[in-house]
Amino acid sequence: MTTELDARMRLGREVERTASVLSSRVVEAFLNVPRHPFVPVFYRRDGGVYRAWRGPGEGWLRAVYADEALVTEVDGVHAEDAPEAGVTGVATSSSTAPTLMAEMLDALDVRPGDRVLEIGTGTGYNAALLCHLAGAGSVTTLDRTERLTDAARERLGTAGFGPAVVRADGAGAYPDGGPFDRVIATCAVRRVPRAWLDRCVTGGVIVVPIGNALGGGAVVRLTKLRAGGAAGRFLHRPAAFMPLRGEDGGTVRAGGVARVEGRRRTSVVGARVLDDHAFSFWAGLALPPAVLRDGATLHDPTDGSTAHIEDHPGRPSTVTTSGPRDLWQPVETARTSWRRYHRPRREWLTMTVDPDGRQVVSFTAPDGWPTAWCL
Ligand SMILES: C[S@@+](CC[C@H](N)C(=O)[O-])C[C@H]1O[C@@H](n2cnc3c(N)ncnc32)[C@H](O)[C@@H]1O
Repeated sequence: MTTELDARMRLGREVERTASVLSSRVVEAFLNVPRHPFVPVFYRRDGGVYRAWRGPGEGWLRAVYADEALVTEVDGVHAEDAPEAGVTGVATSSSTAPTLMAEMLDALDVRPGDRVLEIGTGTGYNAALLCHLAGAGSVTTLDRTERLTDAARERLGTAGFGPAVVRADGAGAYPDGGPFDRVIATCAVRRVPRAWLDRCVTGGVIVVPIGNALGGGAVVRLTKLRAGGAAGRFLHRPAAFMPLRGEDGGTVRAGGVARVEGRRRTSVVGARVLDDHAFSFWAGLALPPAVLRDGATLHDPTDGSTAHIEDHPGRPSTVTTSGPRDLWQPVETARTSWRRYHRPRREWLTMTVDPDGRQVVSFTAPDGWPTAWCL
């Protein structure tokens, strides 16, 4: 029979093995901080329905200590409040896959005594790891609903950790705190909010998932610079985090885009290219920030432009566009540059944030030719 300790040790070994080159302190945190108290109930997918799965039990314990994200809230319904029949919708809170958490914590480089801010408390498991790493330092973690922060606060307390757990909108005017030596977000943004930079000390580290329209996400590690800006580079690991949401709790969805009627043309770049997340991150940088994706349809709600791509085996794809702009054209151009530069990896990209707020992702080709995208 698998005990909780066996399961946790196995996860610790997995974190060490799969999460590239990690500091021993991060591995040690995963060995010492249990995950199960933070996810007593989580959802599993059963066809199109999310059903709550409550511990204890051997299968449940194995799932808790697997290297998988565990969904704990769907469209605002916490797994602990889920009806027997389950719920449908979009995941709105989860415990991130442990090896991805480990890589982000490693990049954050928390030292004993550091003051740390986390945006996206979720279950509280990452906050517990942060407390372990910061030792006598102080950790503040925030999330957007009391349902989430109350549960996390209680579980952190039971596990022996006492961070400040605050209900607040991470995007905006949450209670003043800090300054912080380390800032980490566990939800994705297109641009790093000014407040996160302002609350970080000069020389401090900020780790943030940058999401994009096409689905490929990546984590950037920035260092706050003396003049007020920040600079850094992306981690190798793909990271599709749920987005930072507005205070209304609304979830951004591309669904509901009407059937696209309009101009038709062919393209040698089919919708399948978007299945490669490294490419979709690269191509997404070239698209306007408001663009949404629903399968093979792209839509920009700001001007109504829409593109639908239909792939045909052995033949060029069909692109149907409407509105003022052809949204597939930047993806085609990105495909050409992607090939020319030998499929650039995320970690070859750098990012800068100017003190005036301009945020730029850059890539320098081996021949010195620069490419830059404004976020
Ligand atoms: C992947 S989960 C966080 C995982 C968490 N760190 C853990 O260890 O369980 C992302 C979290 O971001 C939160 N979030 C999304 N938008 C937010 C906002 N505007 N302000 C604060 N938190 C937000 C969600 O409610 C969700 O709990």
